[in-house]
Parts: sequence; structure tokens; C-alpha cells
Amino acid sequence: MSKLSRRQLLVAGSGTLAMPFISRAAFAGGSSIITSAQARFLPVPALLQPENGDTVTLAMAMARHNFGPGDKTALSAGLNAEYLAPTVHLTKGTDINFKVQNRLGDVTTLHWHGLFVPSVKDGGPHNTIKDGEDWNIKVHIDQPSSTNWFHPHVHQNTAYQAHLGLAGLMIVDDGKDRERGLPRTYGVDDIPLVLQDRRVVEGDNVYAPDGMDLIHGFHGDKLIVNGVMEPQHEVPAGIMRLRLLNGANARIFNLSFEDRRPFHVIASDGGYLEKPVETGILPIGPGERYEVLVDFSKGKTPVTLFTSSDDNGGGEALPLMLFTSHGRKSEITTIPATFDTLSPANSGMAEETRSFFMDDRMMENMQVLMKGMGGGSHGMTHGGGHDGMVHSGRSTEQAGPPMTAASSGMAMAIAGETFDMNRIDVKARLGSYEMWSLTTSGEMQHPFHIHGASFRVLSLDGKAPPAWATGWKDTVLVNETADLLVHFNRQADEKHPFMFHCHTLEHEDLGMMGQFITV
Ligand code: C2O
Ligand code: CU
Ligand code: CU
Repeated sequence: MSKLSRRQLLVAGSGTLAMPFISRAAFAGGSSIITSAQARFLPVPALLQPENGDTVTLAMAMARHNFGPGDKTALSAGLNAEYLAPTVHLTKGTDINFKVQNRLGDVTTLHWHGLFVPSVKDGGPHNTIKDGEDWNIKVHIDQPSSTNWFHPHVHQNTAYQAHLGLAGLMIVDDGKDRERGLPRTYGVDDIPLVLQDRRVVEGDNVYAPDGMDLIHGFHGDKLIVNGVMEPQHEVPAGIMRLRLLNGANARIFNLSFEDRRPFHVIASDGGYLEKPVETGILPIGPGERYEVLVDFSKGKTPVTLFTSSDDNGGGEALPLMLFTSHGRKSEITTIPATFDTLSPANSGMAEETRSFFMDDRMMENMQVLMKGMGGGSHGMTHGGGHDGMVHSGRSTEQAGPPMTAASSGMAMAIAGETFDMNRIDVKARLGSYEMWSLTTSGEMQHPFHIHGASFRVLSLDGKAPPAWATGWKDTVLVNETADLLVHFNRQADEKHPFMFHCHTLEHEDLGMMGQFITV
């Protein structure tokens, strides 16, 4: 069988051609702009500022949360919060104790995505915390200034737990942002924006994936920022620093302002770029972080931040949030010209080259779904237009019983194998650089993430990466090919290997994940 496009497969798999390609709200269409009269205010997560030797307690618990106007208060979970978590500020050079309390009623783990820690403290699938138990670890903070995050990573249940709201930010700070001339007052000119989506059915927040949701990753029809739909935030007339995290299970955000004012990208996952990179559109895949400066001293306010279409499945342009101005000047009024120098990165530094195919097993999984259709419930029946891939207006009943990665009969793979907690896929020399060449089937983009290592993107689809993606990263959106120079600078043992995987959480749960140790 020749390779079919995703759309052809969808049509072929549906057994019917009655799937209109609905073109949704045009970009920046008048009705889709948020107005300050109705919008709720953006919640800025509380800030925890532990000092050397302090203990940070993070209690993971079920809760209820209201995402937006007209919505019911829905099932959620958070860490010290009904949804998401406080932001933890970590000073470089300190030792911090984390006490993670699992009060979820189910087994979990808490992974420190982006933090430089040995694998035994990484919070991957091997670091399980049973319900009612605590996990106590001491972490030495020793890495460049950066925005990182934590979220559950439990075997085959990460997507569900993360979607409940179990995620929070960690800011690593080397204390030099004043010298750098950067905005640095949390909540004032430096705010985090956690970008996510929800599927709202009859006012309720529903995570009930069907087979197609597992294949494409679960997309919602409503966007939320810091846990609230279409919020507004008042900013000073000057330079704002936005710490962007794509905390969605699967949605790719393509950010832009209504008036196309530029983002000045100053940092990626692993720390600062050499100088700010100006762009009108900023794509950000699940798990990725970018820090941007935005000038609110010129141009009109209020101004709406949008995301345009996600090729993997959320077809429409949607407003994310509104920035209004309180008119007062901010401390920082100019964009600094340069930051830290980046170390060189080239293929000559690699002592090993490896190739990995991020295998969505599209054909096999579609076949599993089609077989399941005989029962009339699972799989291909959808109420909504499929071009958008967003099942708005479809109730859980219409969708059929939700599927889990384990119950679906589907699987995805990386490097030829579906995830196995008992198999070590790669042994890398501690301290070495390796060239990792990633390929996909081309049907979908996959956000590749590696624990316990940092990389530089040498090429994407055979071309140089965009300038904002040339710094240190741990997650990158792969369309067809990517060449990464990976630095293995954290230690992993056989009992607690590090993970590398697709950060579309449904794909991760389906097995597009492998393990490595350092030797
Ligand atoms: Cu953000 Cu393996 O995860
Ligand atoms: Cu991670
Ligand atoms: Cu994927």
C-alpha cells in the first residue's frame, strides 16, 4: 500500500465521506477578539522562593476547577492548588529539598522536566509514588537560568494525569538578570503563561479520548492560559517578559499578536540565546518553553494574543488572551542587545551517531480502530467536522467509551520498539556529545524530548533551524527530520534510566518512548 496522507487515511477510515472541511473563524476575525469587558483576569501562580536547605512541599491532590464563563466546575487536580501549581523559584547553587505528597488516589510520579538532576531523582516512570505516600529528594541546583516545569510521568497514565492540571513551573535563576537588563519582577513585568486546551462538552471539561484522539493526540476546542479561558492581563507601558510553556497534551501553538507586534525571543528550554530573536509568529510544541520580551509601550492596547492553526489537529485560529495596559511605565523600557555566549555546536563534536524513527504506526493503528468499529462504539464515529479534529459538541456518549493507551490495542514506537520499562535502548558515555538523527513518517509532527541531556538543533527538515531554536533545548518539534547534537551531562543507572520520547502525551503513553543510561 502506498503512503496515504493523514487526511486520506481519515476519509478512508471513516467509511463515509460525510466529513465536511469546516473552515473556522478566520484569523483575527472580529468576533474572535476578546473584549476586556467580559474577560476574567489571568491568574498568576503564587511564587515559592526556597532558600538553600529549605523544603518545598508539593501536595498532589484531586480538586475541582472552573475554566471559563458558562462552564461547570470540573474535575481537576493540582499541586498546592485546584489546578496547576505555584511557580518554584530556584537559585543556582542552592540545595533544595522537595517533598512530593501523592494524595491523588492513584499511583503517580513527578518529573522535573528540564532540571539537571541524576536519573534517580528525575521523577520518570521508575520513581513511582504510591497513593498516600511522599517522595523526598534533595536537588542541587546547578544549571543556566531557565524556565522548566514539573508534571506526572507515570507509565501509560501521563496524559490523563497531566490533563487534570498536574503541572507547574520552576524558574532557575543565576542572579544576573539585573546585569542583563531583563525584566525580572515576577507577577509585574515577568509572568508565566501556561498554554493548554480543554474539550468542553455541555459546560463540562471532558478527557475521554477515542481512537482518533490517541492517534493525533488529544486536542481541545477551548484554549486556556494558566487554567482560565480567554483571560486578560494588565501590563505596564514597557517591556514585559513572558515565560511561555506549552503545557498541552498535544496541541501545537503558533503564537502571534493581533497587530503582529514582534516577540523578542530571549531564551529557549535550556537558557538564554546570544541575542534576542525577533519574530511575528512563534511555534511552540508540547513541552517546549520560550521566554519572550514584548513591547507594550507602543502600538494599541488592548491587544489579543492568538494561536493559528495546528496541523496535527486543531485547525482553527483561536484567541488565547488579551493584554490591556494600566498605563504606568515599567522599569525596563529597552530590549537588551546581547545575553550569554553560546558554546559552539557542530556535528564534529559527536562521538556517536544514532538514528531514531518516531513511528506513529498510522496504518496498523487505523486497522485496529476499524476492526473495533464492529462493536459500534470505539473509533471512527464523530459528530464534528474532521478537518478541525476538534470534537466540539460531541458528548462522551457519542464518542463511545474513552480509550486508554493500554486498552486501545494501539501502539507507537521509537527506534523500532514500543516502550518497555525493562529494556535499555541506548547507552551513552557520560559527558559525551552524540548526533541523534530523528525521522517521522511525515504524517504528523512529534515533539521529541529527552531527559537528562540537553541538545542543540543542528537542522530541521534538512535546513538550519529558526534562530530562536538554536540555543540549548530539551524538546523540539520534529516535522520530518531533525539532527540534534545531544550533550549527556547527567548520570543515569540501570535501575533508573532516563527517557526519550514524543511529548504528545497520548503518543508517549502508546509507547513512543525509549530509555537510556550513561556509562
Ligand atoms: Cu515533560 Cu518525559 O517529560
Ligand atoms: Cu522531561
Ligand atoms: Cu508524537
